[in-house]
Amino acid sequence: MAVLNVNIDHVATVRQARRTDEPDPVWAAVQCELAGANGITVHLRQDRRHINDRDVRVLKETVACKLNLEMCIAEPIVRIAEQIVPDQVTLVPEKRAELTTEGGLDCVKYKKRLAQVVKRLHKKHILVSSFITPDEEHILASAETGCDAVELHTGAYANARTDRAIEKTLNAIRDGRDIATSAGLIIHAGHGLTYRNIAPVAAMSGLCEFNIGHSIVARAVLIGMREATEEMIGLIEMFGE
Ligand code: PXP
Repeated sequence: MAVLNVNIDHVATVRQARRTDEPDPVWAAVQCELAGANGITVHLRQDRRHINDRDVRVLKETVACKLNLEMCIAEPIVRIAEQIVPDQVTLVPEKRAELTTEGGLDCVKYKKRLAQVVKRLHKKHILVSSFITPDEEHILASAETGCDAVELHTGAYANARTDRAIEKTLNAIRDGRDIATSAGLIIHAGHGLTYRNIAPVAAMSGLCEFNIGHSIVARAVLIGMREATEEMIGLIEMFGE
């Protein structure tokens, strides 16, 4: 049975919309953990557009389940990971202009650098995963760099609109899973997974961990909206003339 890591980046996105101190992603992490999440995932981007250094430091102190740090392989970010020592690192590509992580990491192109980063993170006993499209060359390159796990990019499946495209993208994930299993890798999956499209991937054997963010944060905003409104009306009425 696969487990869930909740990506709480977009709780920080709401905070950063006002550059204030709420909502605190650390509080959100507590809620996820109380609900039974296997882990908390955050992406410390180079532009710090949502999660910042303080968040990662405080999460490291407070999260009792797994802390999975998504990050690119740029040197300043690798140094932060070495200092903070999360339980797991997921290596991702990063472009400044993108809205979210677009493709998978090119493990063939960056193989040499990747192998160095994996070695340094292993020295700190951090489990290392690489976020890749489910292609054989990237899976095998990940294994060769020493990665413990791969996170198979489910974005193409999430974006597929026809039955044919859905089946094709699910088959690509299945094939990727089989290649990764043969290469001795642990298999994670994520990106674009929602309450509507999770069923077929949840039903796939061999996937150990899902990283899901936007859809859960979006649902949390709506589920909590009624209570939040009622609470504010209560205060206005309590103190109103
Ligand atoms: N996995 C990785 C590697 C990601 O970069 C992201 C987005 O930050 C996710 C999973 C979660 O994607 P989503 O927010 O679409 O659930």
